[in-house]
Amino acid sequence: MKNIVIFASGFGSNFQALLDATKDGRLHGKIVGLICDKPGAYAMERARIHSIPVALFERHSFVSKHDMDVAILNQCQDWKADWLVLAGYMRLLSPMLIRAFPRHIVNIHPSLLPKYRGLDAVGQALDQKESIYGLTIHFVDEGMDTGEIIVQVPFEVDVMDRDHIEKRLHALEHQTYPAVINKLIMEESV
Ligand code: GRF
Repeated sequence: MKNIVIFASGFGSNFQALLDATKDGRLHGKIVGLICDKPGAYAMERARIHSIPVALFERHSFVSKHDMDVAILNQCQDWKADWLVLAGYMRLLSPMLIRAFPRHIVNIHPSLLPKYRGLDAVGQALDQKESIYGLTIHFVDEGMDTGEIIVQVPFEVDVMDRDHIEKRLHALEHQTYPAVINKLIMEESV
C-alpha cells in the first residue's frame, strides 16, 4: 500500500473526497498524514475526525521558507510518504522539497491550464467571459501551476454565475482527483 500525504490550507473538501475514496476502496493508498499551513483550517478538523495525523507548519515559526520546507520534508519522510497530494495548499513548494519526490507530487487546479494560473482562477476566467471551464491535475514543478499536465476535464457553462460554476467544479474535482491518484499509484505498482 502506498503512503499518501495530503497538503491543504483550507476547507479540505478534496482531502475529504480522497479520504472517502480510500475508505470505500476506490483509492488504493493510505493517507498517512495532513500537512497544513493555516491554523484553524477546516481540513485539520476533517483529519482529526478520521484520526489522520496532522502537522501544522506556520511560516512565521521559521526563519525562511526553505527552513519550513525542510521541516515539512522531514515530516513527510517520518510518515514514509510515497506521494504528496496537494489539495488546496496555497503555497509554492521549495525546489529542495520538489526534488525529494520526483514525479510524485500532484496538484489540482480549477482551470484549464495554462490559462488562469494562481489565485482565483474562476474569477480570472469570469473576467474574461469564458464559457468553457474545467480542472487540471498536474505534476508539481518549481513554477506556479506550470508542471506537466496529467488530466484536464472541461465543461461548458451558459450561466455566468460564480456559485453555479464553483459547485460544478467541486463536484468534478471530488470525482476526478481520487480516480487520477489511484491510477498513478496503480501504474506504479505494475
Ligand atoms: C480546489 O478548487 C482546488 O482546485 C484548488 O483549491 C481548491 C481547494 O478546495 N487547488 P478544498 O479546500 O479542497 O475544498
